[in-house]
Amino acid sequence: MALFMVVLVLVFILALSICTALLRWNELKFSKKGLPPGTMGWPIFGETTEFLKQGPNFMKNQRARYGSFFKSHILGCPTAVSMDPELNRYILMNEAKGLVPGYPQSMLDILGKCNIAAVHGSTHKQMRGALLALISPTMIKQQLLPKIDEFMRNFVSDWDNKIIDIQEKTKQMAFLSSLKQIASVESTSIAREFMHEFFKLVLGTLSLPIDLPGTNYRRGLKARKIILTILKQLIGKRRGCQESHKDMLAYLMSKDDNNRYKLSDAEIIDQIITILYSGYETVSTTSMMAVKYLHDHPSILEELRKEHMAIREKKRPEDPIEWNDLKPMKFTRAVRKIVIFETSRLATIVNGVLRKTTEEMELNGFVVPKGWRIYVYTREINYDPFIYPDPLAFNPWRWMDKSLESQSNFLIFGGGTRQCPGKELGIAEISTFLHYFITRYRWEEIGGEKLMKFPRVEAPNGLHIRVSSY
Ligand code: HEM
Repeated sequence: MALFMVVLVLVFILALSICTALLRWNELKFSKKGLPPGTMGWPIFGETTEFLKQGPNFMKNQRARYGSFFKSHILGCPTAVSMDPELNRYILMNEAKGLVPGYPQSMLDILGKCNIAAVHGSTHKQMRGALLALISPTMIKQQLLPKIDEFMRNFVSDWDNKIIDIQEKTKQMAFLSSLKQIASVESTSIAREFMHEFFKLVLGTLSLPIDLPGTNYRRGLKARKIILTILKQLIGKRRGCQESHKDMLAYLMSKDDNNRYKLSDAEIIDQIITILYSGYETVSTTSMMAVKYLHDHPSILEELRKEHMAIREKKRPEDPIEWNDLKPMKFTRAVRKIVIFETSRLATIVNGVLRKTTEEMELNGFVVPKGWRIYVYTREINYDPFIYPDPLAFNPWRWMDKSLESQSNFLIFGGGTRQCPGKELGIAEISTFLHYFITRYRWEEIGGEKLMKFPRVEAPNGLHIRVSSY
């Protein structure tokens, strides 16, 4: 027994020494002079476990110890984390100085080489230009909103007296609404297979890039292949027939406009995947959380309903929502818009954005080596009591002050050269969804379902509500 205890103590001491040596070795490996302060954790794994487990508290603790710009090793990369508003702005504005998007390899592999997050410089400018033309306010007004309206009114048409998982429904809504805007006529016939593969693609982009059977990464790559086939067939069919279409795909394929950069087929396909992917989680999660917050704040729901009922009263039941119904108001702020802003702020749908250094550079007096990732972590700004008094309260009225939206701290839609081009489209989609949902129904939560806020906002077991006619 005594011998066993001695062996146990020796094993324990040995394990402790190995751990200490590994931690020390990893710190030494990243101890180059001038690096930002901070800790690097374990070799390979770094501090990923602490980051994922403690979430926002990990960031807050590191900031308390090392300041607003510190180093860590998370999600497989040495990373400089910036929680400094001035520096964040500088990073977002200076892609040309070697601060390019730094999204994980799995995301780049699965979303494609021509995906907007994978291209820089003049190619990014061209891709972004093509995308901006596709989702401009004029396009939303003339082409996209009628499709969104038709889709949303049908999508929520048969929810009376049902228990639904609003998380699942908003995911389907975000995907299918985009698909209708992309390929309006064919969307119904391809929806089932496409959506099934798209959900696998999304999971793949959020996984480790390990190409082994059974991994989400492998499934994501396979889903990409199937999606490419669906889209190639669609493009082929359209080229082979005379029928004219009025949707995003028709616009991307058209050769009429001489001033426009003409995309190759591979670029058209990655542009479509970009649109579907970028608007998917942001729009679905914001919609789900808006339903949640409105449920928890009946007086705000009533104000919003009043506004939407007033829009409906001017119309016949079959009349669609139009741009004029949604466009910004001149003298007051629309409740529908401030509810969306407040939902995005309080739920923090986007914690921050990722960049990568293409060369060694100095930031805030520290050296950041080439190839390091930079996490522009914007979450904490959303809870800054100086900008948003009583920050944990759901209070859309704080956005009545228009200047809050134009402040440089407003990073819900990112900032600088990569600021979200889909902001107005996203707001139009969420507003139209809420319009039909709240003017037709009341709802109550079944109750007690868990909501995770980090690293992504999600309800692991779904968010079930009982819906009845209003
Ligand atoms: C509530 C809805 C939305 C939110 C909160 C949101 C948020 C963001 C954020 C934070 C970024 C910056 C990413 C970065 O700097 O790396 C971004 C970029 C982007 N968003 Fe959105 N987004 C929304 C809706 C949409 C929609 C509907 C689309 C559809 C086209 C879209 C397309 C894009 C694209 C293509 C980019 C990349 C732009 C570039 O790299 O130049 N977003 N979005």
